[in-house]
Amino acid sequence: MSDSISRYTTANGAPVPHDDISVTAGERGPLTFDNWRLFEKLAHFNREQIPERVVHARGSAAFGTFRLTRDLSDLTIADFLRGVGRETPVVARFSTVAGGQDSADNLRDVRGFSLKFYTEEGNWDMVGNNTPVFFIREPSKFPDFIHTQKKDPRSNLVNWQNRWEFWANHPQSFHQVTILLSDRGIPYSYRHMNGYSSHTLSLYNAQGERAWVKWHFKTNQGIRNLTDEQAETVGTDHHQRDLFRSIEQGDFPSWTVKLQVMTEEQARHYHINPFDLTKVWPHADFPLMEIGQLELNRNPDNYFAQVEQLAFSPSNFVPGISGSPDRVLQSRLWSYADAHRYRLTVNYQQIEVNRPRCPVSNYQRDGLMAAAAPLGEAREGGQYASTNFYPNDRAVEGAPVPDAMVAEPPMPLEQDAWVGYHDNRDEDNFSQAGELYRLFDESQRERLARVFATTLQDVTASVCQRVIAQCYAADSDYGRRVEQAWRTGADESDAAEQTLNNF
Ligand code: NDP
Ligand code: HEM
Repeated sequence: MSDSISRYTTANGAPVPHDDISVTAGERGPLTFDNWRLFEKLAHFNREQIPERVVHARGSAAFGTFRLTRDLSDLTIADFLRGVGRETPVVARFSTVAGGQDSADNLRDVRGFSLKFYTEEGNWDMVGNNTPVFFIREPSKFPDFIHTQKKDPRSNLVNWQNRWEFWANHPQSFHQVTILLSDRGIPYSYRHMNGYSSHTLSLYNAQGERAWVKWHFKTNQGIRNLTDEQAETVGTDHHQRDLFRSIEQGDFPSWTVKLQVMTEEQARHYHINPFDLTKVWPHADFPLMEIGQLELNRNPDNYFAQVEQLAFSPSNFVPGISGSPDRVLQSRLWSYADAHRYRLTVNYQQIEVNRPRCPVSNYQRDGLMAAAAPLGEAREGGQYASTNFYPNDRAVEGAPVPDAMVAEPPMPLEQDAWVGYHDNRDEDNFSQAGELYRLFDESQRERLARVFATTLQDVTASVCQRVIAQCYAADSDYGRRVEQAWRTGADESDAAEQTLNNF
């Protein structure tokens, strides 16, 4: 065989003599048991799939760079946020939320906006969405909410009755529902949408001062959306094709990165709970401060290895960046790594696309699919000290020791705080939805009302009435318009006999 041709081998590296023919007992006889090459091939094929993400299963990713344009030393010790011009490699994954891998890109849904910054002090994951708020402020509602967005367990079809029943019973969703049903509910592509941390996160500096921050990623391609009718014409792979092609053609998408910053003192007195995920911080009170540019300029080489195995977690912080008391964020700090351990095994952070680009040195050992073998001694580039316990006397030999300097400042509690069930269900569910509605022009309002009417068409009257009441609570024109559109739609579809059977 010539040197230029690569040999076909089995997984153990042995050359394969034939791949079009199996071993049989005679020309017309059965397979023999020594067909180990065939058995390996079939067995591996049976195991090609792993569990898909329980949400955000369908997505696209690309690699790129974050470049800092404003030094943030005043706010944070985060290494990659100090020094104008500093560049950090990133991987971004965009996704739809409710559908499985086999669903479609062109659906009305929130889009995921996840970034992994491969910093020199560890990976920082910003796991946000293309909306500045979320459907819930209480984490225990997440599984219920997602069940209603996914396919109905009996019909295996999307069921608007389920969706609206959840929203009717959870007015805290109304701000996000307004965004979802507005023009931004179906982005033209992943390149034409903004990203948001949605949650309040924090930065802390060398003096131990903490600032609360919200992250905004503003598309430089401009916001572009699809109406329901347009969405039907673009094809189900539209987002993947659009992102992949533009990068292949050298037309690299980019986002301007901005922060809103609130001091701890401001947070104590601000009239809005700064940690309520269903609310934004109005720009007039907390203006956006530009800090960098994000560009995506390289497509993955292998979708499974680099996209399906990508694992983001809001708990992947680096020194200088931390969380906040937002209840939903707090629960996410636990939930994602748990999901990864199930989906990708306990050593998911050793998979190439998740692997930090800085030394990893600790006393975690072994486990399923452990690829990073602790070396006999600590070495540059492969810092897995041979010692497997801490504390020890081997620091001079390179055994890792904690660094108290990176500790985050203590999280303040409210005065006289008590542990128990604090009901937050009625924390002003409507004001900001009303403010958003009042930003819409006449045609946006009309389209919004039409989407309400269409999706409410086969939904029970009692749910519709509660939904319309929510629209009125946000803005009387909003309520009137949706009610009118719904009544017209209901007349047209003879919905007097509304039933639960909306398949
Ligand atoms: P501003 O007038 O300063 O900001 C309005 C914001 O609304 C802009 O960021 C704009 O985004 C965004 N927007 C426009 N159309 C839509 C839509 N269909 N869906 C989602 N966002 C949209 O007002 P405030 O800061 O006082 O906020 C008023 C309302 O604007 C909020 O209640 C919230 O619903 C919405 N909003 C606020 C954001 C914030 O961080 N303050 C962020 C995003 C939305 P762009 O500039 O990209 O066009
Ligand atoms: C994915 C849980 C709220 C954004 C996931 C996954 C889980 C999960 C288990 C799959 C992880 C994986 O298998 O890789 C939760 C829970 C939430 C919550 C329990 C609330 C209690 C949110 C919010 C946002 C968000 C508020 C955005 C602000 C995302 C994104 C992904 C994701 C973008 C996809 C990440 C990727 O691209 O791999 N979530 N989530 N989630 N979630 Fe959440």
